[in-house]
Amino acid sequence: MQPSVLILDEPTSQLDPIAASDFLNTVKKINRELRTTIIITEHRLEDIYYCSDKVVVIEDGKMIAKDEPRKVGDYLKKCGNEMFTAMPTPVQIFYGVGGKGRCPLTVREGAEWLDQVFQDHAPQVTAVDDTPETNLDPDNIKDPAVLVKEAWFRYEKDSPDVLKGVTLQVPKHVLYAIVGGNGTGKSTTLKVISNICKPYRGKVLINGKEVKKYKSGELFLGNLAMLPQDPQSLFAKKSVQEELEEMLTGSKEEKAEKVAEMAELCDITRLLKSHPYDLSGGEQQRAALAKVLLTDPKVLLLDEPTKGIDSFFKQKFADIMMKLKERGVTIIMVSHDVEFCARYADLVSMFFDGGIVTTNTPNRFFSHNSFYTTAANRMSRHVFTNAITNEDVIELCQKNR
Ligand SMILES: Nc1ncnc2c1ncn2[C@@H]1O[C@H](COP(=O)(O)OP(=O)(O)O)[C@@H](O)[C@H]1O
Ligand SMILES: [Mg+2]
Repeated sequence: MQPSVLILDEPTSQLDPIAASDFLNTVKKINRELRTTIIITEHRLEDIYYCSDKVVVIEDGKMIAKDEPRKVGDYLKKCGNEMFTAMPTPVQIFYGVGGKGRCPLTVREGAEWLDQVFQDHAPQVTAVDDTPETNLDPDNIKDPAVLVKEAWFRYEKDSPDVLKGVTLQVPKHVLYAIVGGNGTGKSTTLKVISNICKPYRGKVLINGKEVKKYKSGELFLGNLAMLPQDPQSLFAKKSVQEELEEMLTGSKEEKAEKVAEMAELCDITRLLKSHPYDLSGGEQQRAALAKVLLTDPKVLLLDEPTKGIDSFFKQKFADIMMKLKERGVTIIMVSHDVEFCARYADLVSMFFDGGIVTTNTPNRFFSHNSFYTTAANRMSRHVFTNAITNEDVIELCQKNR
């Protein structure tokens, strides 16, 4: 259509990090070479923030900042605005250690800035403690909540195998993250765990019992719940309120009370009367999460739960996950959000070509990966050996003052 203005609304929310970066590079090229004006909304700012001419921050329907990227970061920091936590990693680390001078915006600028910081004194402490707790040693997991053993699956009899001997063991009460490229079989693995897809070879056990031996109602009543990749597929009613009530039994008052409590937790109270299809992507994600949590599962499967969610609710979502873990829930999460996995997961697995190729604790997992890793790790790996979150880098910078 050869437009002169191109408007993109969170275009990378469903893409894996490498595909997202490729996509945004194309957008940049369109802007530079075809001189097309681009207006883009994004939550994942690492790859696009630095090259924007103007950044606009909107809060409660009002524009609170409009400036070039470096100034916006500085402004949000100075006024203590929560949106600062949405800034790209180098910006957060720079201000986190009280950096002076020009703030780095990209991984490369961040790495150069760290070089300057340690120009006269090489760091003495170069690693954060990453010794796994005993139950998290991936080679020695006892009594797992979920066990998948050599599962093979294909969608049609004569189509190629999608799962080629998937094996995974998930310890009880942990957040277990699965990362990997698009189309490698991650969602299919979750469907196999929840017995929606039945493997033609291999086994799936939930709390020691084979998943196919659970009666159909029994599995989804308090044992296991799944938030699918497309949250809309969970909605069939006219309002969010009805969607949530549907999950409950008991008197009208009891239901209303539980719904109100869950709506509060998932930050959807003001949306209860809305039609589920009228919500934004992130709001649908939260409504679907509320619906799934109302079944009070022991094992919770989440397929890309943080897509379309802003940094503010993401923090809240993390708090909910930590609370569920304390209550004994085991969470398996497929995600492209490496920053989130690095910060909150207990174990991370890499999925590639129909199987799991490595599993480790986040610090070990991400610091051994060159591409599939966090911005904090990429900007600091030449000075620190295993820093993967902003906090890790800030901690090590402070220890080496
Ligand atoms: N319902 C389906 N019928 C046929 N093929 C499917 C179906 N769902 C997924 N696939 C195929 O299985 C492969 C793995 O898909 P999926 O598990 O969704 O990957 P991921 O979640 O890792 O992106 C892809 O090649 C996809 O096209
Ligand atoms: Mg998927």
